[in-house]
Amino acid sequence: MGCKSLYFISVIGFIFFSSFAQSLQNDSARLSLDALLQHYASKALARSHSGILYKASLPANLSGMEASVVRQRSGSLWSRGANYSSFRFPPRIIPSPYTRRLAMVFENLGNWSSYYYRIPGHSLVTPVVGFRAYDASNFSSIVITPVNLSLTGDPIFIHFPPFLLPSGLNWTARCVTFSVDGTVVLANMILPNVCSTRKQGHFSIVVEQPKRNEKRAWKVWKWWVIGLVGGFVGLVGICVVCILVRHTRAKKIRKMEKKADQGESFNTVWIGTSKMPSAAVTRTQPILENGYAP
Ligand SMILES: *[C@@H]1O[C@H](CO)[C@@H](O)[C@H](O)[C@H]1NC(C)=O
Ligand SMILES: *[C@@H]1O[C@H](CO)[C@@H](O)[C@H](O)[C@H]1NC(C)=O
Ligand SMILES: *[C@@H]1O[C@H](CO)[C@@H](O)[C@H](O)[C@H]1NC(C)=O
Ligand SMILES: *[C@@H]1O[C@H](CO)[C@@H](O)[C@H](O)[C@H]1NC(C)=O
Ligand SMILES: *[C@@H]1O[C@H](CO)[C@@H](O)[C@H](O)[C@H]1NC(C)=O
Ligand SMILES: *[C@@H]1O[C@H](CO)[C@@H](O)[C@H](O)[C@H]1NC(C)=O
Ligand SMILES: *[C@@H]1O[C@H](CO)[C@@H](O)[C@H](O)[C@H]1NC(C)=O
Repeated sequence: MGCKSLYFISVIGFIFFSSFAQSLQNDSARLSLDALLQHYASKALARSHSGILYKASLPANLSGMEASVVRQRSGSLWSRGANYSSFRFPPRIIPSPYTRRLAMVFENLGNWSSYYYRIPGHSLVTPVVGFRAYDASNFSSIVITPVNLSLTGDPIFIHFPPFLLPSGLNWTARCVTFSVDGTVVLANMILPNVCSTRKQGHFSIVVEQPKRNEKRAWKVWKWWVIGLVGGFVGLVGICVVCILVRHTRAKKIRKMEKKADQGESFNTVWIGTSKMPSAAVTRTQPILENGYAP
């Protein structure tokens, strides 16, 4: 194997590591997905009636997800609450800063849930659902600004569809909240399949993965990292040694050839019973181990 192929392998190793590092931080993927779903939802808002939930039509590359939107008067939300999608909003919720009208966008990430949302050591057992409230007081406005909701009474309840737990172990299902401020919180269910929240964001139900598997996965993972880092460092090392060896050999040969040209006396060795000049060997064209002439 020549130095060139080693060099290429090193480069590929580097590319692998950098893409690997990128895949670990994809908050931006979630944010751009939210922005995209909000964009399609706002299209559905254009000619809507207050208090009716409209489904957004999504492009083919988002198939499997759902987004819907509703226009809601703040006064009615405060006095009566509202039920949309899997969310139950109790009375006494007020937007902050106050706006007379709200637009609320609901998401269900369906089979894309675990692609966008993960929590270490846990598995999702329901799709991820989410909601976000926006200021809708100005209907001609293209820019929709998010608003905070201030809950002065009960929390918002989220009703999840029935789910089956993996059999065999004593599983405990818990609620997970990925709130818009970036925090992730695990909490116990208040009722079967029901979670509660006081914040906007995304929600799901998770079960803890068995400890034993977690440890083994970490072990395997650790050896992968050690192996790959070791291999990468090793390759760079081999490449450096390879270049050094080539360099010193070429230098030595040049030196010996120079000596021969100047007609200096050679070192002599004993072959059988006769004394011979040892540098004769280098008179033939040198062929290096790595296969090509310098
Ligand atoms: C997010 O990161 C996970 C690995 O943690 C990866 O499997 C997934 O493809 C990433 N998603 C996006 C949209 O980049
Ligand atoms: C889906 O397609 C739209 C254009 O139709 C594009 O703007 C968007 O980035 C794509 N989203 C994903 C997640 O691939
Ligand atoms: C989810 O399902 C849709 C079809 O309903 C499919 O087109 C899409 O690729 C699936 N997404 C994932 C992440 O498997
Ligand atoms: C929402 O649903 C609950 C029962 O699930 C009901 O008690 C409540 O009155 C409903 N609220 C509205 C505004 O429809
Ligand atoms: C509503 O939005 C439009 C376009 O963004 C803007 O020109 C107008 O001044 C806004 N009206 C109010 C009352 O904010
Ligand atoms: C919503 O509340 C958070 C803190 O809880 C604050 O940082 C943010 O600016 C608020 N947003 C608006 C639109 O008031
Ligand atoms: C499952 O675990 C809970 C506590 O985490 C315990 O109360 C219950 O008895 C366990 N059930 C079985 C069948 O082991």
